[in-house]
Amino acid sequence: EKVILAYSGGLDTSCILKWLLEQQYEVICVLADVGQAEDMQMAREKALKIGASEIVVADVRQSFAEQYIWPAIQMGLIYEERYLLGTSLARPCISVALVEAARKYGAKYLAHGATGKGNDQVRFELCAYALMPELKIIAPWRDVNFCERFQGRQDLIAYAQAAGIEVTAKPATPWSTDANMLHISYESGVLEDPNVVAPSSLYELTLDPLTRAPRSSKRVCIYFEHGLPTGVEDLASSHVYSTPVEMLKYLNDLGGTYGIGRIDIVENRFVGLKSRGVYETPGGTIFYAAHQDLELFTLDREVLRTKQLLRDRMSDYVYNGFWFSPEASYVRQCIQLSQQHVTGQVTMELAAGYCRAIARQATGSSLYNKQLVSMDEHGGYVPQDAAGFIAINAVRIREHARAFGAYDKH
Ligand code: ARG
Ligand code: SIN
Repeated sequence: EKVILAYSGGLDTSCILKWLLEQQYEVICVLADVGQAEDMQMAREKALKIGASEIVVADVRQSFAEQYIWPAIQMGLIYEERYLLGTSLARPCISVALVEAARKYGAKYLAHGATGKGNDQVRFELCAYALMPELKIIAPWRDVNFCERFQGRQDLIAYAQAAGIEVTAKPATPWSTDANMLHISYESGVLEDPNVVAPSSLYELTLDPLTRAPRSSKRVCIYFEHGLPTGVEDLASSHVYSTPVEMLKYLNDLGGTYGIGRIDIVENRFVGLKSRGVYETPGGTIFYAAHQDLELFTLDREVLRTKQLLRDRMSDYVYNGFWFSPEASYVRQCIQLSQQHVTGQVTMELAAGYCRAIARQATGSSLYNKQLVSMDEHGGYVPQDAAGFIAINAVRIREHARAFGAYDKH
């Protein structure tokens, strides 16, 4: 039987590959390039050497940026108010490549290296079922025989060495990482004690904002159309980056040198566990802040508030693995409707450890009415009307004070 293995080139999935071969499967490895700094050629050779009958390196960077990261920026997705969903967004994108391979090679099985305690197993499997309902899943980390044989990392290393699998390709870090063009995540190992500070050597995408970031700040202008970034301008050189992949790379590098986008959190996994994670999302953090600023500038107040409720729902759907689901496509279309006038540009100031909007401009008609709000002219606003507005709002407040006493008596 043929099985598609979601292969990373690392220790776990290399051992899983070998183990699947021992179980008499024919294994086709799929290595999705989502922008992780992995040597694809070495991973290819490694998989073939172990015994994969085929390895497909799927370069999905452009679709990851355009069809997953860009909509996430447009929708303002953020999980539990802090996590920009770097791993959660990559899973559906990778799943598409896995299912394409399953169809191409006529495989009925899909295997992955996610553990039984995490979110990734849920995401890979729900996405796969949505795209190819008849697919059968093999999750070795939930397999009794596999788990008995491999209690931990040491067993995997011993197994790999016995099988002639190279384990020294990457020096092992005492934590688990997941990298792509939006972020790097760090979990487990020394991070499992939430009260232990992450070592400064952990961070790979960002410099320490306190000791290594430049002293001088930097300005960039981010252009949006209907809530989607369409360009990033370096205001010093006037150079404009205009494809999603280029824009992300530029802001990741720049944000990285300023130490922007580090978070250290405890989050709620879908399976019910609390987990400590450290994340670096330099470019994503700058896009998020710029989009948020333009949205507040251009959206009607009540639309904005309703959109935020939907945004929170959508963030849960994405985190929990429901990217391909009726509720996600419904909510996504609702949020997109709100973005009709989120068109314009935002000037961002980057400095050590933070970024903020310092100027913004909307293209076309705008809800911002300088005459109407100005302290220097009336602009058609009738200040006398505000007295009635306040008087009616005060009815309830004064009644409460009359019945139960004025507030300073409490
Ligand atoms: N906790 C994050 C999430 O669920 C990151 C998961 C990292 N996954 C990994 N296989 N290392 O999205
Ligand atoms: C894993 O369990 O494989 C990684 C962490 C997660 O999926 O949440």
